[in-house]
Amino acid sequence: MLLALKNVSKIYKLGEQEIRALNEVTINVDEGEFVAVMGPSGSGKSTFLQVASLLSSTEKGDIFLKGRNVTKYSEVELAHLRNREIGFIFQQFNLLARTSALENVALPMVYAGVGAAERRARAAAMLEKVGLLDRLGNTPAQLSGGQQQRVAIARALVNEPAIIFADEPTGNLDSKSGEDIKNLLKELHQEGKTIVMVTHEAEIAQIAKRIILFHDGELIYDEKFGYNKSLKSQKTIEYVDMLKKKRKPPRLIFGKVTGK
Ligand SMILES: Nc1ncnc2c1ncn2[C@@H]1O[C@H](COP(=O)(O)OP(=O)(O)OP(=O)(O)O)[C@@H](O)[C@H]1O
Ligand SMILES: [Mg+2]
Repeated sequence: MLLALKNVSKIYKLGEQEIRALNEVTINVDEGEFVAVMGPSGSGKSTFLQVASLLSSTEKGDIFLKGRNVTKYSEVELAHLRNREIGFIFQQFNLLARTSALENVALPMVYAGVGAAERRARAAAMLEKVGLLDRLGNTPAQLSGGQQQRVAIARALVNEPAIIFADEPTGNLDSKSGEDIKNLLKELHQEGKTIVMVTHEAEIAQIAKRIILFHDGELIYDEKFGYNKSLKSQKTIEYVDMLKKKRKPPRLIFGKVTGK
């Protein structure tokens, strides 16, 4: 097991108000899995990703990465762990402006203590992998949205993380660029990378091997295990039926591979 959350809750406090963005979430992700996270707006998908990627602290529960309980790690330890083990792809790309594609991709290696020559070589190789070898010197403003997201993916991969998180990676892209990013993520999965991706689009979720569903901060459905019984509702059943109709074989339902 690569990543595990056990009874994790996240509460945002805004003055007097408390928002329970995650409520007792338990999930395991194995090495090589491709998980799509779905659910309505405000259901806790981004919060889940931030918590699972150790970007955001929690009020309750435990998080395990590669078998180690990292819940009580200090900020410094977490920053180090994130740099080495976690890649993150954002909807808004989050590249440094006025900084070349090459330097954007090389940046995580600066924090990892990699020497300058090796940084350049590895960043260039990674940009070649995402099809941008001819754009190394371009700044984000000199790249299309799809190209910027490919730079961001190269940056997420460059330290060879154990797991990659993506929050609506195609959300800001036109359908053609979205399709390119979808194919790139598919390729990464085929190479054995572990990916956890939030998406609103059922079409994009199809490339994942396991879909999980959030509602009001709770994990209500997991394609690997089925419904969280206490949270099963007519609305969930209808949503899951819609997803299942779109599923192409082989598909995972309740842990068994069917439809072959
Ligand atoms: N920094 C924050 N402070 C306070 N409340 C927050 C914060 N971030 C998120 N929330 C609240 O937590 C809940 C879950 O938000 P989250 O961003 O995880 O939803 P989401 O499923 O990603 O939605 P979307 O599909 O719109 O991106 C929402 O009610 C949201 O208003
Ligand atoms: Mg979100």
